[in-house]
Formats: sequence, C-alpha cells, structure tokens
Amino acid sequence: MKYLNRRQFVSRSSSLAATVAVPTLAGIGCTEAKMDEADLSAKESIHAQAKKGGLQFGAAILASQLKNDRAFREAVIRECGVLTHENELKWATLQNRENQEYNFSKADYIVDFAEEHNMAVRGHTLVWHLGYPKYLDQTVNPKSGRDIMVAHIEELSKHYAGRMHSWDVVNEAIDIKYEREDGLAETLWFKAMGEEYLDIAFETAHKADPKALMVYNENGLVYGRERHDKKRKAVLDLLKRRLSNNIPLDALGIQSHLSIGQHPFERDKFVGFLNDVADLGLRIYITELDVRDTHGPADIATRDQLVADEYKRFMEIIVDHPAVDMIVTWGLSDKYTWINEWAPRLDGLPARPLPLDHKMRRKKGWDVIVESLEARQKNDL
Ligand code: XIL
Repeated sequence: MKYLNRRQFVSRSSSLAATVAVPTLAGIGCTEAKMDEADLSAKESIHAQAKKGGLQFGAAILASQLKNDRAFREAVIRECGVLTHENELKWATLQNRENQEYNFSKADYIVDFAEEHNMAVRGHTLVWHLGYPKYLDQTVNPKSGRDIMVAHIEELSKHYAGRMHSWDVVNEAIDIKYEREDGLAETLWFKAMGEEYLDIAFETAHKADPKALMVYNENGLVYGRERHDKKRKAVLDLLKRRLSNNIPLDALGIQSHLSIGQHPFERDKFVGFLNDVADLGLRIYITELDVRDTHGPADIATRDQLVADEYKRFMEIIVDHPAVDMIVTWGLSDKYTWINEWAPRLDGLPARPLPLDHKMRRKKGWDVIVESLEARQKNDL
C-alpha cells in the first residue's frame, strides 16, 4: 500500500470529500471501487476512523428521521457506531399525563435499529429539569419527589436493562445563575430532595441496570470565560462529592455545543479540566458535539471553514486525551439540527453545524474530524 504522510493524506482526503457526493451506500461502493487502498481507508467513515484509534463515534438522531429518510438512514449506518435518542427518551415524550403508561415505541425503534446495525446506545436522559410532563410541577414536592423520580428511573432502566452502553443519569445539575456556592441549579428535583437527588438517581439507575455505565452530563464546560471556569469548578466538586459518597459513577459527559466567533477557546483551561476529571478515575464522553454558526457569515464556504476550524481546535485536544472514549455529535446532517429552532440565524439561512450537509455530503467539518482521528492513530504507533 502506498504510504501517504499526514499532509498528503489531509489534502487528498479533503479534496476527494469536497468533490465526491455520497448519497447512498451503493453510491459509495461505486466511488470507492475507483480509489486505491489508501483512499479507501481515508474515505471510510468517521466511525471506522474512530474505531481504528480505539474511540467510539456516533450521533443523536430521531426515530422519525431514520424511518422516513433513506439517505439519512444510510448516512447513519455508514458514519455511526453509537446512537443517542435526541428526544425520544425524555420524560415528556414517553408520558404526558400522570399514571399514563409509558410509550416506548419511538425509543425502542432506535434501540432495535442500533442493535440490528451493531451500534451501541447511549440513554439520554433519566433526570433533567427540562423536557418533563407539566403535571410534575404539581406533583413533585419534598414528600413525593423521591418516589416519583425513582419510579421513573426504574421504568426506563429496567425497560432497557442490559441493552444500554450508558445512561446520562443526571443532565445539567449545575447552573451558576442560581448564585449558590456549590453551583447547583434549584430545579424541581433539587427543591424536592436537595443535592441528595443526584446520589439517589445514580444508585437507582445502577441497581436497575448494573451493566450500563453511569454518566453525569453537563454543558458549558469547554470555553474560557469566567462563567465556564465557575462551571468547571462546580462540576469537578459535584463529581468529587459523588465519588466520596461511593456513588456509582463512571464517566463525565461533556456536551460540547461549540460556536464560532462567540467565546475564547482557552486550550490550557480545557485540557486542565480533562486532566482533573481523569485524575478522579472517570472516563470522558463527548456527548453533544456541534458547532453553532448562528453569528457566522452568510457565505457558505467561509462559514463551513469557520465551523471546521472550531471542530479542529476541539478535536485535536479530544482525540489525544487518554480518558476520552467516545464522541457523539448532536445530529449528523445539517438537514436535522436543533440549532435552527434554538439559535436561528437572523438572516433566516439554515444552520450548518454538523459534519454532513443537507444532502448527506461530507463537509469540511467531516474532513477535520477524520483527520484528527487519523492523527491519533499515527500517534499511537
Ligand atoms: C434538545 C433537542 O435537540 C431539541 O430537539 C429539543 O427541543 C430540546 O432539547 N442539551 C441536552 C439535549 O442535553 O437534550 C438538548 O436537546 C440540547 C441541549
């Protein structure tokens, strides 16, 4: 096999990715048949590249997207080794009214699909203060809160026992806007049980599904502003308190909703934080990676380059960190992204935060993700 050095590899894989559209699996077969062996490995998929370097790669998706969009489904099969439900495991999707039986049909569809294609599934999420049915505002109080939360965790964990790679047991427990010393958010769960709700949640989830890895998932941990510093500290302290209570906890999920031109990226702070988490003996999962282009220029080539630059800054750190096991993007194709709803551009143009474009073609962001993974494999040699 002809050896390509890193520079040749990079320029070769980007120029190919830019010119070759990959709409279907059959399409890839055809295109790849014309490539030499080195090209073939460069073109495989993010999942294949990640796997070679000992990492898992996947994306958050919706069941409806898999069901109704063949090109998307094929892209997911090609690029992903892990799936997360974007919304189907959130409480309000499973149940609207008190005492109503949980409807797992959409969530099951994703788990079945993942198993059929040999992919792992990350459960998102058991305890959160958003995406829950409104009736909880009336029913959760210091007397009832614990039983309600425990019953919910058991319902989900037992339904999928033995099938989940990991659960985001608690999502976003820290919010410094409450101005508490410990940084904890005063959510309905906190108001009902105090900080102990975290311990109860992890213990319950672990008992119900001892095989699943237990993850604490949090946002706002990457950038360099003071509020990110505060959040990193609060999260580290929260993790340490759980560990000193002997709570089952395996990994920190770092959501990683990045953005272009918004925040300073301070490499040392972020690397220091990853090291601190690793020193606690925890693994690290990147759980919700995307790059918000809300404030980027309208021009697509320039915008895609800025998004790719941000992916690159981040990936170069992540792929080389020994505690990182997994990278999951929040969506896979720009055709389906929460950014259009949650942080739309003022000019009304569709957001482009993900590795594939609206037609499932690989973007510059895809190239830099694959290049960083490739660099990791070389470093390991
Ligand atoms: C978002 C989904 O992407 C949206 O479709 C939904 O309307 C709101 O939730 N952090 C999380 C995710 O942990 O669950 C959120 O998902 C995005 C931010």
